[in-house]
Amino acid sequence: MRKPIIAGNWKLNGTIAEAQALIAELKALVRDSNNVDIVVCPPFTALSTVASAVTSSSIQLGAQDIFFRQKGAYTGQISGPMLLDCGCKYAIMGHSERRGRFGVPEPDLTEEILQVFGDNDKTVNLKLRAALFNGLTPICCVGEVLAERESGKTDAIVQAQVTGALDGVSADEAATIVFAYEPVWAIGTGKVCAADEADRVCGIIRATVAGLAGDTAAQAVRIQYGGSVKPDNAADLLGRPNIDGALVGGASLKASDFAAIVKAAE
Ligand code: 13P
Repeated sequence: MRKPIIAGNWKLNGTIAEAQALIAELKALVRDSNNVDIVVCPPFTALSTVASAVTSSSIQLGAQDIFFRQKGAYTGQISGPMLLDCGCKYAIMGHSERRGRFGVPEPDLTEEILQVFGDNDKTVNLKLRAALFNGLTPICCVGEVLAERESGKTDAIVQAQVTGALDGVSADEAATIVFAYEPVWAIGTGKVCAADEADRVCGIIRATVAGLAGDTAAQAVRIQYGGSVKPDNAADLLGRPNIDGALVGGASLKASDFAAIVKAAE
């Protein structure tokens, strides 16, 4: 039986004071939720503050990204040891917003500018292995953009992203990973993927893990759905056999909404 995992990706939101207020409210609301892994992923600048706030609770800390070198001349990057130092247990990698793939078009973000977001299957693999090397649990995001879905490429894209992510990863390591299926067109749009379809694609992810790392790893791997998860659609999604949790963006910024999604997972 896989333990459900609900993670809040706060993205580019929150001063230290705002993070303190949000985590204080959330702590009170999820105090009795023991059979769900609850993770919050604030911006790097608020990690230490939130780490101190969650010490006496079951809420765990994650980072929104991780660099694949331990230290050195890599201006602006944050490494695994630094995340551990801040109290992180999880690190997200491969989020579509870090791959430069957006569900809501931003016309001023030209191809040239999108390169700043820069991740691809190769760097996602390096980041995933860096997380494992440091004892952090990877939350590895995969998912198709609308044009890929409309041209029938969803399964192939997701299979390729999972295969790329697992390059050089042992079966034992693979078993510890959390994957997040985030159809890019569902992120921040309010257009949630139908639960049957989300479950089907999460099944493709599990089958891909089985093909690469064996059945034991595939049965252990936890797979989240992400993309417009809200209190009113969470129970339907989380009730599906291949969906073990949710990666929540917008609704994780409102303590009562995030707590309601945690309750739906219980
Ligand atoms: P929303 O829940 O705002 O759609 O964001 C999902 C997401 O990208 C989580 O990583």
